[in-house]
Amino acid sequence: MNQTIKVSKSWWEKSAEALPSIKSEVPGPNSNAMHAKTIRYMKGLSSQVKLFPVCFEEGYGISLTDIDGNRYLDFSSGIYVASLGHCHPKISEAISFWAKKLMNAHDFTTPIKEKLMEKFASILPGKLNAIQLYSDGASAVESAIRAARAISGKHEFISTYRDFHGKTMAAVSCARMYRGDTLSYGPTRAPGFYMVPRPDPYRPLWTKENGTIDTDAYIRFYEQFLTEATVGNVSAFVLEPAQGWAGSIFPPEDFFGKLKNLCEKYNILLYDDEVLAGMGRTGEWLTLNHWDVVPDIVTLGKSLGNGFPVTAMIVREENAEALEKISASSSYGGNPMACAAALASIEVIEDEGILENVREVGKFFMKRMIKIKEQHPIVGDVKGKGFLLGIELVKDKNTKEPFEEAGKLVYQKAFRKGLAWIPAGHILRMSPPLIMNEKFASLGLDIIEEAIAEVEKEFGY
Ligand SMILES: Cc1ncc(COP(=O)(O)O)c(C=O)c1O
Repeated sequence: MNQTIKVSKSWWEKSAEALPSIKSEVPGPNSNAMHAKTIRYMKGLSSQVKLFPVCFEEGYGISLTDIDGNRYLDFSSGIYVASLGHCHPKISEAISFWAKKLMNAHDFTTPIKEKLMEKFASILPGKLNAIQLYSDGASAVESAIRAARAISGKHEFISTYRDFHGKTMAAVSCARMYRGDTLSYGPTRAPGFYMVPRPDPYRPLWTKENGTIDTDAYIRFYEQFLTEATVGNVSAFVLEPAQGWAGSIFPPEDFFGKLKNLCEKYNILLYDDEVLAGMGRTGEWLTLNHWDVVPDIVTLGKSLGNGFPVTAMIVREENAEALEKISASSSYGGNPMACAAALASIEVIEDEGILENVREVGKFFMKRMIKIKEQHPIVGDVKGKGFLLGIELVKDKNTKEPFEEAGKLVYQKAFRKGLAWIPAGHILRMSPPLIMNEKFASLGLDIIEEAIAEVEKEFGY
């Protein structure tokens, strides 16, 4: 039924031996030519591509190869997606098995779907076991909003500044819109969707007398907001446990527990969007597991299928009946290849000790990043947990003025040295494959530090 091929934990290491390997000026001539042809038709590319228009043709484990034969160390996992390594043999095999046997059966039961359901129920906390499957993050987010309405009978939603949840209508309504891209055109936020400030320890809005962030002040503001700004019909608080797009920003340690208490006090559902942060990225199945907070609704995606499009929306058993009101039927959701990809990915996380690796190597990352911060005048803050990491560049450590130009340059310089990664304005994002060991974590950070030093020199620091 599903493939059970055994793979050694170090399946990718041989292929990574000579990383990175940059033979010429990059992007090279073939990349440039291929990109120029593509963009005659393909429009609206991300800054990740616009700032470094390379053309990749192969990925294996933690390496990516472009069409000029240059090989890069991967610090992006695509975009938090190929988290267990590119083309993990077990996952690729599981997908191809079903690609040859049964590709689609609408939302009928299939043996592989049943196995995946059992597996999901065994890894998620607190009876989170009423599940629907989709094929992209935004569709799962839409279904979470529908589920929250169906469970609560209420229709208002609150999310936090600089959130991102995808590009469909409800998802856009929960997100920051002032970005100069398509999200900002027209009156796009649907009625009943609100945003409130989010506690960012590096840029706090409210602080205690000792200068540290005052989580209680945020919670007091939310409480006031419920009575002053909403019509008292708030269905759910929509939460990115760690903000990905905004730059790997985690709230202070005492935030989630306090938010959960607030939600319980006002009978508001806690919807935890783990599309980016879940499935081991921070060293737990769900990032909220770190704080023992069990949400009412969860969405998962990206790492879930290690590259194959599969996403999930899950609610607690006690609310399962409400899901009968919102059909799970979709053209691609839960197709056999998708179920096989998700099941194999979960098994790899279990079999290869991925959560433990992320926790261990994550600590190594952070230790080294703190050193980088201490040694470089333009590194204002380093942040993250596990393998969800960010480096915030500033013009001055006292004023904390964002250093956008440096962000672009450091991104490009490190890429030229062979590091594939993710820009976010003045915050540089890192999302390495979760299989990475200290050797390559260190190598990637060496490249970043070198790029930072060169940029500092160019700007006269
Ligand atoms: C937290 C979060 N939710 C939802 C989405 C949307 O996922 P997709 O791009 O698969 O639609 C994203 C995408 O980056 C995300 O970061």
